[in-house]
Amino acid sequence: TARYAVFGHPVLHSLSPRIHAAFGSQLGIAMEYAAIDAAPADFERALAHFAETGGLGANITLPHKEAALALCTHLGDRARRAGAANTLTRHADGWHGENTDGIGLVHDLTERRRIDLRSRRVLLVGAGGAARGVAPALLDAGIDELWVVNRTPEKADALVDAMGEPGRVHSRYWADLRNLGTFDMIVNATSAGRGGAPLELPFTLATARTLAVDLSYGEAAGPFLAWAQAAGCETRVDGLGMLVEQAAESFAIWHGRRPDTDPVYASLSARAD
Ligand code: ATR
Repeated sequence: TARYAVFGHPVLHSLSPRIHAAFGSQLGIAMEYAAIDAAPADFERALAHFAETGGLGANITLPHKEAALALCTHLGDRARRAGAANTLTRHADGWHGENTDGIGLVHDLTERRRIDLRSRRVLLVGAGGAARGVAPALLDAGIDELWVVNRTPEKADALVDAMGEPGRVHSRYWADLRNLGTFDMIVNATSAGRGGAPLELPFTLATARTLAVDLSYGEAAGPFLAWAQAAGCETRVDGLGMLVEQAAESFAIWHGRRPDTDPVYASLSARAD
């Protein structure tokens, strides 16, 4: 059987094996999809071993998305702009890398939830790998302005520079959050919900009509979405839909067909409740 896998550290609780198995049975495509834990020092070797033993495609999750990009012989436009790869496909000349995270987020918002992203003034909180993965796709989706704020300001500046659209993409200091007015959409791309110091955001950023999006799901999305609720945001979205949609995009790259994501999302969100 064709072999696929997700590489991460940790990866034990990844939902990707379940999601890909569900897509495979839906479309009648036989394949194997494993979760492979590799510490950063072992990632390159583990991926090479996977290729030597018949691995055809890999999803890459934390903390390997930047390392994966560096190992590719060919990069898709979205991976290059994001500076991170979450989908690798084995070709005769090596791994080809793509990034489906951003398009996954945009599909979840615009297709599943029928939210129009055009002309939105968007605040992106965080400037790590997750933020870089979604920023290009948000810009492509037609948002009006992207404001990037990160605890470490240099990383926000670097993200903004990498987008190459100085008229539309701006960085600001965390301390300036109070002076930025309100946003139509706030995206939490920090890892704060996964432990560590709490996220400190002022309520002046949001109105009832602000769309609040956390790229994490489950417990990790709890603190930001609770903040958004306290700030009065009526529409609050976690990253489970994005996870399913990015998986569908990866699946389509590998198998040439895009699965119906609705039943898979429904079963995972029922389980999460
Ligand atoms: P990921 O791949 O999830 O993006 P990452 O690349 O380590 O992980 O990035 C984590 C992001 O969360 C960074 O933007 C980080 O801010 P710094 O660059 O200043 O480290 C942000 N972050 C983590 N904990 C945070 C907290 N308590 N408050 C604010 N930002 C936080």
